[in-house]
Amino acid sequence: MMDFSNARSEVRTHPMSRYQALTAAAAATTYLLIVAGAVVRVSGSGLGCPDWPLCHGGFVPPPDVAAIIEFSHRFIAGADSLLIVGVVALTVASHRNEPRLMAPGILAPLLLAGQIVLGAVTVLLELPPYVVLVHLAFAMAILGLLVWMSVHASGRLAVGAPNLDDGDRFVRWTAVAMALAFVLAMTGALVRASGASWACIGFPACNGELAPFGRNVLTDLQLAHRFMAYATAGVLFVVLVSGWRRRAGYPGLDKASVALGVTLGAQLLIGAAAVSSDLPAVLRGLHVAGAAAVWCSAVAVFSVASRGHRLVEGVAAPRPLFTREAAGS
Ligand code: HEM
Repeated sequence: MMDFSNARSEVRTHPMSRYQALTAAAAATTYLLIVAGAVVRVSGSGLGCPDWPLCHGGFVPPPDVAAIIEFSHRFIAGADSLLIVGVVALTVASHRNEPRLMAPGILAPLLLAGQIVLGAVTVLLELPPYVVLVHLAFAMAILGLLVWMSVHASGRLAVGAPNLDDGDRFVRWTAVAMALAFVLAMTGALVRASGASWACIGFPACNGELAPFGRNVLTDLQLAHRFMAYATAGVLFVVLVSGWRRRAGYPGLDKASVALGVTLGAQLLIGAAAVSSDLPAVLRGLHVAGAAAVWCSAVAVFSVASRGHRLVEGVAAPRPLFTREAAGS
């Protein structure tokens, strides 16, 4: 295997631009908002402010824990909306000839508008579980768009490396891994929305059996979530190892791969601990935070990979992990 460590010194980094800082701040605030949303749910504070957009008829919450928790979620949502509007304005002002930024720059505010309406409906209809599920899906989608934008806002490819993402097997695998991470999160949200959270107790067994499929729908739903988590973890692991091996050719892939490895490991542990200890509220909240972190990392790996890799003069690209020859050997 070729030693790429020397190649790294050739990669020039750019100071973080105002635009990149803004997209990164919006992504971080959206992540915080998802965690705050989980705290609202697991603390049962969803109706802490029974009216919308005011809280008990006022602009500030009364001295009540549930009202303060719900109000904080709305406050962060307000700050995040302003940041996203700022990102869109700067994208239109200085990046409108870059489809990689313009497309998500148009989609993000549309999803945000839908999210605000969903947020109001969630409260006014007293938290219908499937509306909460769609609310989480929109939040994850907005987060994904902002992570993509903050990676592509870096302009680290300005050094003119050829963009080789079409047909690049590795990039396709990172896209598959990213899609699996999103679908997995939605199966988890379905477990919660359908009331299947307690349908399987214990780990690795479910109610004392390894895979008691076919007993009832709720057990099947949670088992499906668990087994999809194991399969997705397998694909994410292969992708992050492949990413790590290619790190010298893709600026930033080392950090994204490590983040994916750490968040994936933590999330699996949190899931296992949650079902082994009767789903305490703190682990249910951490499970949402972990799922959003795995999603962010999977999007970051895909975004960095699709930004193209830099062929370093005289150094061959790493042998792809997934080749027919490799399968034959
Ligand atoms: C990478 C792995 C995993 C991801 C990304 C993931 C993601 C999620 C998400 C997004 C939710 C919905 C939370 C909500 O809507 O509030 C969820 C719920 C759930 N997950 Fe996972 N999960 C993973 C692994 C696991 C594992 C390994 C287990 C158990 C062995 C598990 C058990 C559960 C349970 C019981 C719920 C319902 C929790 C509740 O009602 O608050 N998950 N998961």
